[in-house]
Amino acid sequence: MEKRLYIETVGCQMNMLDSELVVATLRKQGYVLTNSPDDADTLLFNTCSVREQAENKTYSHLGVLRDMKKQNPEKIIGVMGCMAQNHQHKIFTRAPYVDLIVGPGQLHQIPSMIQKIQDGEGKQIEVSLGRKDGSRAEITRSHESFDPLRDPEMRPTPFQAYVRIQIGCDKFCTYCIVPSVRGPEQGRSPEDILRESRHLAEHGTVEITLVGQTVNSYKATDSSGRLWRLADLLAELQEIPGLERIKFVTNYPKDMTRDLLEAVRDLSKVSPYLHVPLQSGSDEVLKRMKRGYTVADYRAMMDRIREIVPGYAVSSDFIVGFCGETEEEFQKTVELVEECRFKNSFIFKYSEREGTRGADLFIDDIPHHVKQQRNNDLLAIQNRISLEDNQKLIGDTVQVLVEGPSKTALKSAETPESPHATQLIGRTHCDRIVVFDGNPRQIGKILPVVVYDCHAHTLFGEVVTQECGPELFALG
Ligand code: 5AD
Ligand code: SF4
Repeated sequence: MEKRLYIETVGCQMNMLDSELVVATLRKQGYVLTNSPDDADTLLFNTCSVREQAENKTYSHLGVLRDMKKQNPEKIIGVMGCMAQNHQHKIFTRAPYVDLIVGPGQLHQIPSMIQKIQDGEGKQIEVSLGRKDGSRAEITRSHESFDPLRDPEMRPTPFQAYVRIQIGCDKFCTYCIVPSVRGPEQGRSPEDILRESRHLAEHGTVEITLVGQTVNSYKATDSSGRLWRLADLLAELQEIPGLERIKFVTNYPKDMTRDLLEAVRDLSKVSPYLHVPLQSGSDEVLKRMKRGYTVADYRAMMDRIREIVPGYAVSSDFIVGFCGETEEEFQKTVELVEECRFKNSFIFKYSEREGTRGADLFIDDIPHHVKQQRNNDLLAIQNRISLEDNQKLIGDTVQVLVEGPSKTALKSAETPESPHATQLIGRTHCDRIVVFDGNPRQIGKILPVVVYDCHAHTLFGEVVTQECGPELFALG
């Protein structure tokens, strides 16, 4: 009989990819996806531990399932991902109706764990070793990369795909739980990355995004012993027929080297969009965060980008209200945001994570309302900058990869109405969101769109129609 799977995913691109791969694996076992928890035989929650709020939300979502499980005890409820690794058995204590807990380094075990539960063997838990629970080799082995064969139907769009190039992190920034829950940094074999990317391109993927915690620190040797860096991977990926766009997230400022930036400049398919989290504009705070660079280092990186990559866009992450952050230190962050003019910034209030060095070394002493105020202030400045820079694009023609119908954007009064037009959404090569009227046929294509209006985070445009011979008509 057909089995139904419900899956909910929060967190980063790594989690999106993990969910896709778990769904693909379970489909091979006869599962179909359902959007309704009530209809599902198995419910999986792919979780995030980066901030406490994400964990609390997961517990409250699980709380809603208590009665459901009472009425349907045969339903299987599973928690996967970072919080499964972080809280382990604690999840069984707080939510006793959970059947399965599986860390991000053990996802390949999910089918057999479900089978064991169905066979009456009771609750199942599979997690990897902690960072102090063995030798580096043992810990590394216990965090297995999960890269089964891809299933194009499982992705948000069939023409865009994430490709894992790295798991784990060894940077140990003092606020961050990731090195504990995702284990030691490991570069995936270049042969596997290229094989998977070719397979994706052959099945219609036009855009791949390489994912990892610090992809520009990527290092791996191939079977002949050659060392590969990110720039080498990009050069090979550029040659894959059918691929049109290559993006990579997320990056570490110190490793944004000249040769990598030259590869971004020289390889036409590689997006000049660079996400490089700064976290704070104060050297003192960066030191407490143990980020391993100074503001001067970050400025030097911005100078390299400006010098080498034409048409670049840089975005960033910030943590406000980190332990001991004074008003002066926060103002330095404001100054850097003004100076760097990021395309956009993700701003987070510091959330103390048990098990991190930050939690051991410092006191989380900035009151919540101060964190909130700094968050609002920084966001307002960033939004003003994003809007000003978007306004400069009005009148320009941008190349947009059309992702699908737009769900939320408002219909602009100036747009000519047409009975067949749908409001579509897509992204430029620099990752700017563009909304325009088009035809569903255009989904998955790269189209020239002229920008006529904008908000801070959205461009509004019109497809450039070429009123010429039929050979050009294919463009539309
Ligand atoms: N509290 C708040 N934000 C955090 N981040 C990572 N750890 C924490 C934390 N403990 C933010 C960083 C990182 C992004 C993914 O999440 O800005 O770049
Ligand atoms: Fe966390 Fe720092 Fe590693 Fe990023 S580089 S995942 S912030 S430890």
